[in-house]
Amino acid sequence: MLPESFIQELKYRNDIESVVSSYVQLKHSGKTFSGLCPFHSEKGPSFHVYPDTQSFFCFGCRAAGDVISFIQRIENLEYKEALQFLAKRAGMAMPDEVENDSLSRLKTRIREINRETARIFHQNLNSPAGRDGLNYLRSRGLSDRIIRRFGLGYSLGEWDRLYKALSAKGYSDEELIAAEVVKKRKQGNSFYDVFRGRVMFPILDLSGNVIGFGGREIGGGGPKYLNSADTPIFKKSRNLFALNFAKNSKEKGMILAEGYMDVIALHQAGFDNAVATLGTSLTTDQCNLIARYTDLVSLSYDSDGPGQNATNRAIDLLKKNDVKIKVIHIPNAKDPDEFIKKFGAQRFRLLLEGSANSTEFTISSICQNYDLDTDDGKVNCLNKLAEFLATIPNGIERDVYISRVAADFERDKDVLAQSVQSLRRRNEREKRRKDDGKLTVFAVNMPDGKTNSINDIQRRNNIKCAVAEDRLLAALIMNPDYFKWVSQKIQPADFVTDRNREIAQTVFDRLERNLSVDLSFLGENLDLEAVSQLSRGVMELSGRRISAEETEDYINVLIQHKKEKTKEEISQMDNEEYARYMEGITKGKASHWRGKQ
Ligand code: CTP
Ligand code: MN
Repeated sequence: MLPESFIQELKYRNDIESVVSSYVQLKHSGKTFSGLCPFHSEKGPSFHVYPDTQSFFCFGCRAAGDVISFIQRIENLEYKEALQFLAKRAGMAMPDEVENDSLSRLKTRIREINRETARIFHQNLNSPAGRDGLNYLRSRGLSDRIIRRFGLGYSLGEWDRLYKALSAKGYSDEELIAAEVVKKRKQGNSFYDVFRGRVMFPILDLSGNVIGFGGREIGGGGPKYLNSADTPIFKKSRNLFALNFAKNSKEKGMILAEGYMDVIALHQAGFDNAVATLGTSLTTDQCNLIARYTDLVSLSYDSDGPGQNATNRAIDLLKKNDVKIKVIHIPNAKDPDEFIKKFGAQRFRLLLEGSANSTEFTISSICQNYDLDTDDGKVNCLNKLAEFLATIPNGIERDVYISRVAADFERDKDVLAQSVQSLRRRNEREKRRKDDGKLTVFAVNMPDGKTNSINDIQRRNNIKCAVAEDRLLAALIMNPDYFKWVSQKIQPADFVTDRNREIAQTVFDRLERNLSVDLSFLGENLDLEAVSQLSRGVMELSGRRISAEETEDYINVLIQHKKEKTKEEISQMDNEEYARYMEGITKGKASHWRGKQ
């Protein structure tokens, strides 16, 4: 990390107007400057520079930011490189990084704590007190060999076994809390272990460091799975369980499964190319990570409704990367773990080899929504299928599936092909209209340069929350002093759209560490699209202050959304899930009354 004073000085000496002028011919128009956008091709000038806020914005492609992100974009540089570039331009020397010694020291300590914790959990399996853990893992069919390979363990039932053990080894309370293995009680100066009475799955990064844990409850109550919170060395959204093994696998492609147990069962059965997310749904970062190691992903989620929804979502996300996607359909079992147990590894390999590609999967999941025994159902289903077929970009592939659907529905192929064709023309017209329509007002809520990115779709579907998030973030950036009370009401996890959630994570992290959240600093942790979105949000206010009351309104929008979502989730629970959920609530209350946690 570079000193804040350096970056301020750097910006002061690199006036945005003069920097941009070396790339764009700028014309004065009132208080601002405008010119042809260097980031997309255009005939009229939609690119604007605002000297008073030292920022830029393009009404055409919606790129936005400050002088640093301008240089990042135009010179195609990373944040640090852009700082170097601007320092050179202004004749300034780059200062030594203050990756503040204290932060890098803390990171090292957290790695040590995690390794030690994993060792203790693993050893517990062989102690009489950890017998339950070992029995559980064996009852799930895991061999001693695979237990060792994954370094599985058990956290003992008492409140502070780990805390005491690690304290005795010289780790401070602050370090243990930062590592997210220990929490401080709200009242009094006492501490308790995060994981108690759970079988433990250590999460490793690609260098073999233990960076976090997942823990499964085995009779002690609480949520079924508990995952480490993010720490300075661990970001759930950027890691995958077992990627450290899978990246070296000789199997073809990678298998993406839903949970820890699925992955371990798959590895034990010889599929050491299986990975899973860490208790959250798949993120863009994870897709990029996978795409770095393989060009074929076989989705092997649970066969239940949520699993199938997650499959659809994963297909949408993965499609952005240049990977082939297959979907494994698991018959007569709820997940790969159960399937392998019932039918064996050989049969799973057959599933894997016979797995449908994502087009087939989408077609069959569309069909499931209609009653194909009625004429009405058939017509509606065919219409929906035609819409989907029209989105297949590759002509040959499209033709193959048009033939297949026509044959399945006993329809004339040419008629279907014609209606697909006219849908394609309609889509193209719409797309062109959208591209042409210049936005003439600041409207934070509309798309990035790339049309229909996942972010745009998410925003469109949750427009109210998305705007509330934009404003809330802008409020924090302009009033860092709000942070204390804001963070008591809402957390980054409550943000609805993925990108704003990531931005919030960064902003909250920095504010917690008392670091500046000026846009120019956030580029260190955020990508350019995120910086763009954030500066659009700030710019949209055009200098207007956001009061605490207004900020609170935005928070309430998100809290309301969360409540509704919970209600919806409850309505979809089966009896067993509901019982578990209620148990969780009453337990939570009970411990609250005792003044614990
Ligand atoms: N998960 C979670 N929190 C929960 C439930 C699930 O984080 N309360 C995550 C975990 O990462 C888990 C994955 O979702 O591994 C899949 O959940 P589920 O299908 O319920 O778990 P299984 O892997 O099937 O676990 P088990 O076989 O132990 O029941
Ligand atoms: Mn499962």
